[in-house]
Amino acid sequence: MGEISTVAKAAGPCSMVIFGAGGDLTKRLVVPALYNLACGKLLPEQFAITGVDLADIPSDKWHETLREMTEQFVDAGGHPEDFKPEVWNWLVSRMSYLRGDLNDPASYQKLAEHLRDLDAKQQTGGNYLFYLAVADRFFAPTVEHLGASKLTTQENGQWRRVVIEKPFGHDLNSARELNRRILRVLDETQIYRIDHFLGKETVQNLMVFRFANGFFEPVWNRDRIDNVQITVAETVGVERRGKFYENTGALRDMVPNHMFQLLAMTAMEAPSSFSADAVRNEKEKVIESLRVCAPEEVKCMAVRGQYGPGAIDGNPVVGYRQEADVAPDSPVETYVALKLMIENWRWAGVPFYIRTGKRLVKRKSAIVIRFKEAPQALFRGTAVTRPAPNCLVIRVQPEEGIALEFGAKIPGPTMKLGEVLMDFKYQDYFGAAPSTGYETLIYDVMIGDATLFQRADNIEAGWRVVQPVLDFWASEKPANFPNYAAGSHGPQEADELLERDGRSWRPIS
Ligand code: BG6
Repeated sequence: MGEISTVAKAAGPCSMVIFGAGGDLTKRLVVPALYNLACGKLLPEQFAITGVDLADIPSDKWHETLREMTEQFVDAGGHPEDFKPEVWNWLVSRMSYLRGDLNDPASYQKLAEHLRDLDAKQQTGGNYLFYLAVADRFFAPTVEHLGASKLTTQENGQWRRVVIEKPFGHDLNSARELNRRILRVLDETQIYRIDHFLGKETVQNLMVFRFANGFFEPVWNRDRIDNVQITVAETVGVERRGKFYENTGALRDMVPNHMFQLLAMTAMEAPSSFSADAVRNEKEKVIESLRVCAPEEVKCMAVRGQYGPGAIDGNPVVGYRQEADVAPDSPVETYVALKLMIENWRWAGVPFYIRTGKRLVKRKSAIVIRFKEAPQALFRGTAVTRPAPNCLVIRVQPEEGIALEFGAKIPGPTMKLGEVLMDFKYQDYFGAAPSTGYETLIYDVMIGDATLFQRADNIEAGWRVVQPVLDFWASEKPANFPNYAAGSHGPQEADELLERDGRSWRPIS
């Protein structure tokens, strides 16, 4: 992020350790992102990657699966011929695999020796990036073991950084406890709590759009904006993650992290600089200003849903309760909608409606800013009744871009209004380089820029807002699950949430 207006150059020497080397995240996202970084010459010559996992396999075997997945990733971009074997070989020449048990102190001793060897062989300078691509129960113990084996000690100008994936905690108390444990070992500046939504170009562009253009900021407030709607709609179900999802649900999985990041980027004040703390301070203030509701208010501001059987793109799919590893009477939500109020001077009285769900009609993530109507109907005595309010639509994915909707006169002798669109598409201007969304984030860790990562207080502020909803839902089983069909727009109750305010959602499709 620090590189906004400059051409990025290769990061400095370092050794990266991926815990969970055999896992899905490593194969599908982290390693393809490293490959992309290598293609862009953003990795240093003095670089090494060590994969650590339980399986006893030779390094070659590990490379093989990784190559397959990376080729598939390039393939998915529609240009399989773009896979560059010479770049892949460059990366592989720096990769090694180490069998290790995260609970066993001896594994960390072995790792420490291995890293010292690499420092000598690859000149990695004693700078270590530990990537925890493992289940969340391993986060704290792994950090503690790393600390005990001195692998997190920064001396003689060397850096040691730890990337922690989500879910960061299961609720407010567990997030606090996790922060407490890792902060006993690490300094906050060594911790990179990742939220991959912040790696999406469109999300980063929100700040540029708002603060590098003089245009919108004067109307970006309660005087001109009626409401904001943030949607992350998915067509996928829980796939092979039934077990994880049964313990998580849509609220924990998406809201205190991804959805709140989108909200914070939309609502924050201009930071005093693009430094990590200046930006994170402003985001923190927004989340801190969110009204925390009392348990008895939850019913009026939160809706949960669960998909039943239905069809996606014409193909029949099962309901959530029929998915693998899901209880046949599961009360877990796969959809959530919330009405949130930001209690500060800029936003007082402007509802932020957010919704996210699986197995919805279309994959679409967008932020919709609905402006207030024109103050007076000028068109008395014409066919124009009431001009529709203007809408700014920020498409996060797919078809990334920004569109402004406004009314225009339909040519002809009578005064009739039509809705028109000024539409900026990323693809038209900048092309579309295949990206996993992790490239910027990994690169930022290497150069020590934490702007796009969550601080301890950011994480806890998010959990504080969702905690009453979690508590209330845990106390009362949903009576009507499943309450939306796969392939639909979500539950009726979500429409009612806005109807009560005299508003409606912008349709997903
Ligand atoms: C993950 C959630 O963090 O984000 C998933 O655990 C969700 O359930 C995913 O599908 C959405 O991310 P993306 O980048 O696919 O929109």
